[in-house]
Amino acid sequence: MFAARAQGARFWDVDGNEYIDWVSGIGAIILGYCDPVVDDAVKRQIDLGTVYSITHPLELELAEELCQAIPCAEMVRYARCGGEACAIAVRIARGATGRDKVLFCGYHGWHDWYLAANLGEEANLNSHLFPGIEPIGVPRALAGTAVPFPYGDLTALGQLLDAHPDQVAAVILEPLRSELPPEGYLAGVAALARKHGAVLIFDEVSCGFRLRIGGVQEYTGVTPDMAVFAKAISNGYPMAAVVGKREVMEPAARMFISSTYWGDTIGLRAALTTLRELRRRNVPQQLDQLGTELKRELAQAARVAGVEVSCVGMNYHPGLKFPTSDAAFQASLATLYIQEMALRGCHGYASFYLNAAQGSAEVEQTAAAAEEVFGIIRQALDQGDTTGLLHCEPARDAFRRLVR
Ligand SMILES: Cc1ncc(COP(=O)(O)O)c(C=O)c1O
Repeated sequence: MFAARAQGARFWDVDGNEYIDWVSGIGAIILGYCDPVVDDAVKRQIDLGTVYSITHPLELELAEELCQAIPCAEMVRYARCGGEACAIAVRIARGATGRDKVLFCGYHGWHDWYLAANLGEEANLNSHLFPGIEPIGVPRALAGTAVPFPYGDLTALGQLLDAHPDQVAAVILEPLRSELPPEGYLAGVAALARKHGAVLIFDEVSCGFRLRIGGVQEYTGVTPDMAVFAKAISNGYPMAAVVGKREVMEPAARMFISSTYWGDTIGLRAALTTLRELRRRNVPQQLDQLGTELKRELAQAARVAGVEVSCVGMNYHPGLKFPTSDAAFQASLATLYIQEMALRGCHGYASFYLNAAQGSAEVEQTAAAAEEVFGIIRQALDQGDTTGLLHCEPARDAFRRLVR
């Protein structure tokens, strides 16, 4: 399947089929595809030139906007994608502390510092990325420099910090994915990082902006030392920002961190306009309402189809749960759902990444399709497998297609 074009909440494939996109450009689209305000601003910027040999005032304007919106932001560095921004944040933390080790939780991109986790301990990324990642091409000398910790377990994090006294430069984590963190968890992580002199980094590449414009840190009231934003920051144009407290960010001036395109005004203009539009349209609240509606309609569709499918998780990113504890069966039911929903013009996984161009029309069309599809799911549940129903391989881990 190849995409040909997109508009608003939908895209069309090269064969002319129309789909609602419930993946929102893997999270990058927050206002909707081809948002006229952002795209007009970008087109005007193109006519003024895109990269220059000297600094453009947009760099300051966007930095001021980010510092106003994001609690931990006192200084800002730009990049163009999330993984790159995480690598910059880790470099700054290492440079600022003079330490090498990084404790991490979640997915943070493809760079050496992160994949180093699987050198020696090849299962370290199993529950953060996917099982079986071979760190091919990552220098073996980095073994032991990146160590994972399980989400939600303060004791485990404390033990790791105790086991590496005065060695941990940074604790980096996705503050949430599809559920709110356990009560007090993020505050506990912050306290542990502080006690051990490690820089706390929130990776808000995927969760940023949808819950609150100031990120998960605004919502939870827990302010990290640094945070990384990308994806939704610019509604589909390459852009990322590393933001943080002055005392952590200032040492970066002594480090070599530089790239020609980090000052390109397309990403800057797109981000500045997106942030202002998020605020003007009150997008986090809109997504919250839409998610509530979507969950309600899908629950109703499941009731009508007579199947116990539940729709749970953050309102901006709800997911479906099928009534089986067998992980392999769960995966093939999810694939069956994806297959049948695609045939009914709804592209997605068994989860939903909302954007502001989606509305009641998309929810209605999706719920009507889901009612039929849940009937097929019930058939699979009744027969105990998806034989005769699934016309493709069961879905694998999201990134598995990238490696053999
Ligand atoms: C939490 C998180 N960090 C980092 C990344 C990497 O971002 P990018 O794909 O823009 O390099 C992603 C991408 O999905 C992500 O979800």
